[in-house]
Amino acid sequence: MKQLAPSILSADFSRLGEDVASIEKGGAHFIHVDVMDGHFVPNISFGAGVMKSLVGRTALPFDVHLMIEHPEKYIGDFVTDQTEYITVHQEACTHLHRTVQQIRDLGVKPGVSLNPATPVSTLECILSDVDLVLIMSVNPGFGGQKLIRSALDKIRQLAEIREKTGKDFLIEIDGGVTPDNIVQVAEAGTDIIVAGSAVFGAEDIPGRVKEMTDRLEKNA
Ligand code: DX5
Ligand code: ZN
Repeated sequence: MKQLAPSILSADFSRLGEDVASIEKGGAHFIHVDVMDGHFVPNISFGAGVMKSLVGRTALPFDVHLMIEHPEKYIGDFVTDQTEYITVHQEACTHLHRTVQQIRDLGVKPGVSLNPATPVSTLECILSDVDLVLIMSVNPGFGGQKLIRSALDKIRQLAEIREKTGKDFLIEIDGGVTPDNIVQVAEAGTDIIVAGSAVFGAEDIPGRVKEMTDRLEKNA
């Protein structure tokens, strides 16, 4: 089943609890938590405290995306009973295997993410150790950007590798997904779809979540 993970980077931070309740009402599957440090990406978003303020306020699991340098120093801060995935960037990890192991040892599913210019081949030696591969379809740092179409080729490449090798990692796409391109994105082989501005920028947030999840169910 294809799943939708709205990114709270695009939520109204002055009403974060209400916005999260809205995506839950609409049938979202995860809360995508975009953590940015102003070094790995040219923007600062929020820390673990903001995510932890949602623990117990929603039943949705957290899909944590660390767009930070030295993620190994901060992984522990994002572990809660609701944290399902913690994803680190291949480009930010000198010792990626050790960092992936660290996440798993903390009882959380590890994910690895690639920026648009980083080839899938860089994951060859880690694909057996991760539960999720997050393909960036925008240059990380901001919501509301246009989807970079070459990301769909990387999704297809990963789906093919998974088919051939029998590995069971999930494939997630992140950036520029809208109701108009969500079916195409899903058909490329994506399992979990992140959407920020398309969801939280809508007048009717629950309605937009339902519209996007319905399209996933009907067409992909
Ligand atoms: C970008 C973040 C994405 C972004 C998605 O750096 O990693 O998750 O918030 O936002 P949209 O869907 O608006 O591109
Ligand atoms: Zn993200």
